[in-house]
Amino acid sequence: MLDLIIRNGTIATASEQFRADIGVKSGKIAALGHDLGPAHDVIDAAGKFVLPGGIDSHVHIAQPSGPGLETADDFDTATLSALFGGNTTVMSFCLQQKGESLTKAVADYHARAQGKLYTDVAFHLIVSDPTPEVLEQELPELIARGYRSVKVFMTYENLRLNDAQLLSTMAAAKDGGAVVMVHAENEDVIAFLSEQHRRAGLNAPHGHATSRPVASEREATHRAMTLADIADVPVVIVHVSNGPTIEEIARARHRGQRVVAETCPQYLFLTEDDLLRDGWEGAKFVCSPPPRDKAAQDACWRGLETGLFDLFSSDHCPFMFARDKLSAQARASYRHIPNGIPGVETRLPLLFSEGVCKSRIDLCRFVGLTATNHARTYGLLPRKGTVAIGADADLAVWNPQTQWTIANSALHGASDYSPYEGMRVQGRPETVILRGKVMIRDGALQGTSEDGTYLDRSTEERGPTLATGAATDFEMQVRAPKRGVVHAR
Ligand code: URP
Ligand code: ZN
Ligand code: ZN
Ligand code: ZN
Repeated sequence: MLDLIIRNGTIATASEQFRADIGVKSGKIAALGHDLGPAHDVIDAAGKFVLPGGIDSHVHIAQPSGPGLETADDFDTATLSALFGGNTTVMSFCLQQKGESLTKAVADYHARAQGKLYTDVAFHLIVSDPTPEVLEQELPELIARGYRSVKVFMTYENLRLNDAQLLSTMAAAKDGGAVVMVHAENEDVIAFLSEQHRRAGLNAPHGHATSRPVASEREATHRAMTLADIADVPVVIVHVSNGPTIEEIARARHRGQRVVAETCPQYLFLTEDDLLRDGWEGAKFVCSPPPRDKAAQDACWRGLETGLFDLFSSDHCPFMFARDKLSAQARASYRHIPNGIPGVETRLPLLFSEGVCKSRIDLCRFVGLTATNHARTYGLLPRKGTVAIGADADLAVWNPQTQWTIANSALHGASDYSPYEGMRVQGRPETVILRGKVMIRDGALQGTSEDGTYLDRSTEERGPTLATGAATDFEMQVRAPKRGVVHAR
């Protein structure tokens, strides 16, 4: 007998949309079809969409950010928030501090996550100190143990790598079979402009945006892809914010390079004008790269519509507004405002509402952008990210009609604000299932922080299998014809 049947829903994967029932047994999807027989539990999904649980492959949890400062969310609040946002897997970072061992960082983050998981979790590595020991011993060992993705930074004084370090880290990742994620912003440009601001007495939050112009991201992205090309390693350009950077990516793909591209809600729904809000409220929107202008938002939407972007992630990196972003130090200058904003719970509703309900993207593209492509890029297939027999029964039942207003008071993260406060959205995940366990049923929590597990990637598919480059002719792409308003048929 099946453990669970989800009946009468409209199922979507990254490539198909169809009506079927889903049978679950021992945490896996065991059957797809009709008249699947009896089950211990039945969920009626008539009029609803049944989607793979979201995978958010870019979240920062329990991560230090400067002296005495850590992200607001621990693993329990971050994953609870993720779960209520329709996610069943998050990928967080193990940050190597300068002078520290990378292996020790991995052990630290495992300890932080232990027993505090409402979703499944996997870890990327952040290399900030690529010593010979790290590149020749620790990194190869960790990659073999399943840490198949390495993030490197071109900005932040304490994290940035120079070109030689970027290249040698990329080469080590290539040897081990890992993918490299790059935070691409030119730190020397930012330091120069920031110093000009300081001399001119420009200290308010908006200076954060003007000190990190589009050109600094475009140039760094070009350089990151060039170095990855030389190292012959697949590269993920994370949190892309604007058109000129997108065009660099399109050109690299045109040359045949494997580039995976990610964008985030802040580049669709915020602009740098939000950093101008009164009373230091602009600090709520300080993240890197910064939100840009309307033209950049349009370019990012086009990147989603045309298939240029593979990944839509939150870059959830929450801080407390009152405590962290308004601290005495932060109020002295934007240079001391911690970088990052919350978003793990609002990522999927925002894209569903503004993307799917407004017919900018179809449901299959939504699923690809929010689940399947993350699994492909980071070696979680065939276990995660799709609705298929044999895959983990990670599912979210969405009511596409629910209208609601984003209010931080009703979200589940630890931060004291949402950058999207007051936005009206349509569509909401009502029931969320993790490996067959109903974690949230009709909006009510049933699971616990013991239910999530660490995902070992040592035995899964190696490296990205993503056929990137769907939209190499970004500038010439014709907009896809608008489809009708969606509803579960
Ligand atoms: O401002 C941001 N994005 N903070 C999080 C760290 C990062 O660079 O992704
Ligand atoms: Zn049926
Ligand atoms: Zn970053
Ligand atoms: Zn990030």
